[in-house]
Amino acid sequence: MELDDEVCLCFHVSKRKLVQFMRVQKPRRATQLSLCSGAGTGCGWCVKILQRLFDQGQTGDDDRLPEPTSEEHRSGRARYLETRDRSAAPAASPQDDPPTPEDSYGHSRPH
Ligand code: FES
Repeated sequence: MELDDEVCLCFHVSKRKLVQFMRVQKPRRATQLSLCSGAGTGCGWCVKILQRLFDQGQTGDDDRLPEPTSEEHRSGRARYLETRDRSAAPAASPQDDPPTPEDSYGHSRPH
């Protein structure tokens, strides 16, 4: 994911804007990233990436999960919304929980 790619697709918040927000505002919790143009307060798809960005900002640790590409992020959100909408239908069963964003990317932690 590049700096100008949108992390929060609902509110069009770029990674660059979030990084700048963290540098200037120094949020103490990841949830405070929502103060940056509402990031994470729409569908919820980007929340795990917001948490990851926050954690990286706190630790400066670059040993992390690989980030999704912009296209992976967008297509993952489309699947997430589709699954979420389907599971919200009255006929959905409790076993039909939507996948987490990390599952949808197919990335795993490095060993
Ligand atoms: S993509 Fe960020 S809340 Fe939907």
